[in-house]
Amino acid sequence: MEFEHISVLLNETVKNLNIKPDGIYVDGTLGGGGHSGEVARRLSGQGRLIGIDQDEAAICAATKHLEPWSEHVTIVRSNYRNMCEVLNSLGIDKVDGILLDLGVSSYQLDAADRGFTYRVDAPLDMRMDQRNPMTAKDIINNYSEDELLRILWDYGEEKYARQIVGKILKARQDHTIETTGELVDIIRQAIPAKVLKKSQGHPAKRTFQAIRIELNAELDVLKESINEMIDRLAPGGRICIITFHSLEDRIVKTMFKQNENPCTCPPSFPICVCGKQSKGRVITRKPILPSDDELLHNSRSKSAKLRVFERI
Ligand SMILES: C[S@@+](CC[C@H](N)C(=O)[O-])C[C@H]1O[C@@H](n2cnc3c(N)ncnc32)[C@H](O)[C@@H]1O
Repeated sequence: MEFEHISVLLNETVKNLNIKPDGIYVDGTLGGGGHSGEVARRLSGQGRLIGIDQDEAAICAATKHLEPWSEHVTIVRSNYRNMCEVLNSLGIDKVDGILLDLGVSSYQLDAADRGFTYRVDAPLDMRMDQRNPMTAKDIINNYSEDELLRILWDYGEEKYARQIVGKILKARQDHTIETTGELVDIIRQAIPAKVLKKSQGHPAKRTFQAIRIELNAELDVLKESINEMIDRLAPGGRICIITFHSLEDRIVKTMFKQNENPCTCPPSFPICVCGKQSKGRVITRKPILPSDDELLHNSRSKSAKLRVFERI
């Protein structure tokens, strides 16, 4: 299967990275290398790009796509939460720009056997990194009622979470839930018929999204990594993060703000005594959103938001 993915907010991201031809850049979510290719083509022989992805198929696709610039591109299969270790192992201290384009690629969604999609019947997998032992099947069959409710509410904002979890618990008393198709059937049974009839999106969309976010620890990894990534930026270096979920966007917005103004002194104090100093400034007071043209040509861009931070 060809690796097909249209890069979201491509020009906006590349422009905001302020690429210096001799600079060092890191793409923490390489995917098919769409964004990285645009970075690599702007680099001189002295410039360097490090691309990280945890998915083997993405690594293969990006290696092919970035072949013309292979002399100054280093591709590493890892989680971006390990970015500091990756940079240390390459003898790199500070970098001039970091990019994250979060979530899954269209390729991962479309590859039926990966279990990310509710559109085809496949084993319940949903791992971005297939070396990890835990799959979506483990979550569906082993999580407690409270844990399932938490992820459906928090990550899926699923109104019918209680009904869906109830049906999952009932089904798994009888047998192990093995496939995406079985899960879709369970979800359909849980949602009232008149709601199903009226709803515009797929009824399983929110549940699948919630399980994927939980399984791949997407929000924890983001939260854990932003400060470390900002610390690795050289003065004037920028980090650009594209999110697709309101909780992701909130994390980026809040943590960028905290890095801009980390002072914890009460507002009544005439001067700062906590000593915490700003690490830079938020470039995007409001997130950058896809243009009408992009929305028209790439439905995946619908919920995308780009935020940018610059290091002092
Ligand atoms: C939206 S795609 C990136 C597409 C890419 N920007 C392009 O234009 O081709 C997201 C990619 O990030 C990877 N990914 C998501 N979370 C990751 C993480 N924590 N560490 C490493 N890779 C991750 C996924 O495997 C996927 O390949």
